[in-house]
Amino acid sequence: MNYYFAPLEGITGLTYRNLHHKYFGGIHKYYMPFLSPTQNHCLTKKDQRELPPADSVPYTAIPQVLTKSVSDFLWAAECCGDRGYSEVNLNIGCPSGTVVAKGKGAGMLASPDHLENFLSEIFTKCPLEISVKTRLGLNAPNEFPKLLTILNQFPIKELIIHPRVRTEFYKGSVHLDRFAYAIENSPHKICYNGDICTQKDVQFIQERFPQISSVMIGRGLVADPGLLCGGTHRETLHAFHHELFDTYICMFGSRQNAMARMKEIWSMLITLFDCSDSCGKKIRKCTDYDSFCRLTEEAITQLPILREVKPSWLERSIRCEA
Ligand SMILES: Cc1cc2nc3c(=O)[nH]c(=O)nc-3n(C[C@H](O)[C@H](O)[C@H](O)COP(=O)(O)O)c2cc1C
Repeated sequence: MNYYFAPLEGITGLTYRNLHHKYFGGIHKYYMPFLSPTQNHCLTKKDQRELPPADSVPYTAIPQVLTKSVSDFLWAAECCGDRGYSEVNLNIGCPSGTVVAKGKGAGMLASPDHLENFLSEIFTKCPLEISVKTRLGLNAPNEFPKLLTILNQFPIKELIIHPRVRTEFYKGSVHLDRFAYAIENSPHKICYNGDICTQKDVQFIQERFPQISSVMIGRGLVADPGLLCGGTHRETLHAFHHELFDTYICMFGSRQNAMARMKEIWSMLITLFDCSDSCGKKIRKCTDYDSFCRLTEEAITQLPILREVKPSWLERSIRCEA
């Protein structure tokens, strides 16, 4: 099985990926949070920083592009090619209101004809391999067969499916029956994404879908960064956390901004520990740098580490969907 780290905008940027690889690893490919090209075809400073030469990191990272414009996609892919990347991932699954309102991300699923024309042009003109990350549809899972028929026409390197529709965001149950439909009705290499948080979840997906050779995990890996390398050990987590926080402070030039980033991570990481809700709440509410350092230090060095995370963001485990 190949394991991919899902792109998480605001979390799995270059710094996070570098340090995750350094301290944990076990990942075949890290998918980068989306690059959203603008019409002036100019990479911002942040875009440039977040898209380093492919061979400057000791792991495989795949850039992701979020756009509905063929010329913007081709320009962004060219930037990726210039930096040595051979694969670019197209995001047609982002459910965010502002993204969908502009017809991008999952908004692309609203007009299958436009999607077909868009794919036809990019697959004709783009010299890089293209993988696609999608959902089942915009409003209802029964939109999926038509979308899959369109996706089946193109030489997609790998089709990553998050089996929910846009209106479900990341809530409720994943539609595993629709994922099974994709496997049965597509010639593509298909990757499963959604709600995997534990080794048992990975095993469950492997057993339920023996045809697939890759799974993509996001929040579950932020919660348990050692999930795929034998577990998250206290000393390793301590060193990882320390270097991550320090690097963010340098990078953002502000303790407050670094704390805001760390709080995003802690909203998931806290579920690795056996503690009451109030521990997570204290970290979330904390505004003072010294108190934040003390609280997070105490959590990492003293709280019991669970063998399996108890994800607060899921109503129920994926294993209940059988
Ligand atoms: C905070 C956050 C940021 C995300 N950013 C991206 C993104 O940049 N590109 C993308 O394709 N998906 C993005 N996603 C979706 C994830 O890649 C993934 O599909 C989703 O979290 C479900 O997988 P999981 O249950 O393993 O986390 C984001 C999700 C979250 C929660």
